[in-house]
Amino acid sequence: MSGLKDGLLKGKVAFVAGASSGINLGIAQHFARHGAKVALISRSADKIAAAAETITAEGGEAFGQAADVRDYAAVDAALKAAVERYGKIDVVLSGAAGNFVAPALGMSANGFKTVVDIDLIGTFNVLRASFEHLNRPGASLISITAGQAVRPSMYQAHVCAAKAGINMLTKCLAMEWGPEGVRVNAISPGPIADTEGMRRLAPTPEAEHAIKSRIALRDYGSKLDIAEAALYLSTDSAKYITGTILNVDGGSELGDASGRAGFG
Ligand code: NAP
Ligand code: COA
Repeated sequence: MSGLKDGLLKGKVAFVAGASSGINLGIAQHFARHGAKVALISRSADKIAAAAETITAEGGEAFGQAADVRDYAAVDAALKAAVERYGKIDVVLSGAAGNFVAPALGMSANGFKTVVDIDLIGTFNVLRASFEHLNRPGASLISITAGQAVRPSMYQAHVCAAKAGINMLTKCLAMEWGPEGVRVNAISPGPIADTEGMRRLAPTPEAEHAIKSRIALRDYGSKLDIAEAALYLSTDSAKYITGTILNVDGGSELGDASGRAGFG
């Protein structure tokens, strides 16, 4: 890692929500490898401390705090602690999410609300609370959405509703905060290998094969594919990009020849 300390994010500070595992941890690690100091949050104090340790063990700068994105005051306090420690925030990545596979009639009102609270309300909380701390002009806010935002999907009513909300929130905040020099974008990953999300959505080799057969590029993506997109959106290379939902999905959203969605 030390060779990359002069990387694309040298001198930048990133706040990553939902960073204890999977895609978001991969993004935080990639940011750190490119020179950013990273402040991480998730619900579990143990898991987020272990996640930060994967970064510091490589020579990066990171610290983890327990905060539930559904709790505005906890998010606000974590942001303030990050600013006290690192002085400012240049990049915010909002990726905390929950998912389970269930028909709407197998979902209580609280089950539906739980996913909307984590994904959509949590994203509002993270982005809204971060604003006062942003190093602006020039700050970049990135949310993690999903194909379910634009393709209706059986047994995913909660996720479809929540992620669709994130897409629209991204565009509204891009309009409101653009004049302040704050860019607001989202990344929509396709199915990503070795993640909790795909363990839940495609738990068998047969389900995995079926998904791959419907995707233009015929494969799952990697955590690094998403991290590279997040890195790009965090740099000046993307300085004229705001309000965009960037698909990093192997063509999943296109669907297959019969119009079936590849994923989401
Ligand atoms: P994951 O490893 O389960 O990541 C979810 C993260 O969110 C964990 O770090 C979890 O940590 C944290 N989290 C959950 N609830 C939280 C809360 N209330 N407050 C704070 N943190 C919370 O899942 P993943 O598959 O990598 O998914 C990451 C993101 O990518 C999600 O936004 C997901 O919707 C999106 N996505 C994934 C795929 C895929 O193929 N996997 C495809 C499209 C989109 P704690 O348990 O420690 O809180
Ligand atoms: N089917 C139907 N309902 C379910 C369910 C399932 N498989 N799993 C949870 N629920 C319901 C619960 O029954 C509860 O509703 P109730 O109070 O009416 O019984 C509600 O969802 C909340 O469950 P709870 O376990 O209290 O929520 P939590 O806040 O502790 O956890 C989840 C949130 C349910 C989303 C949990 O799966 C989680 O923590 N996920 C994070 C990891 C993840 O999903 N990664 C993939 C990201 S794409």
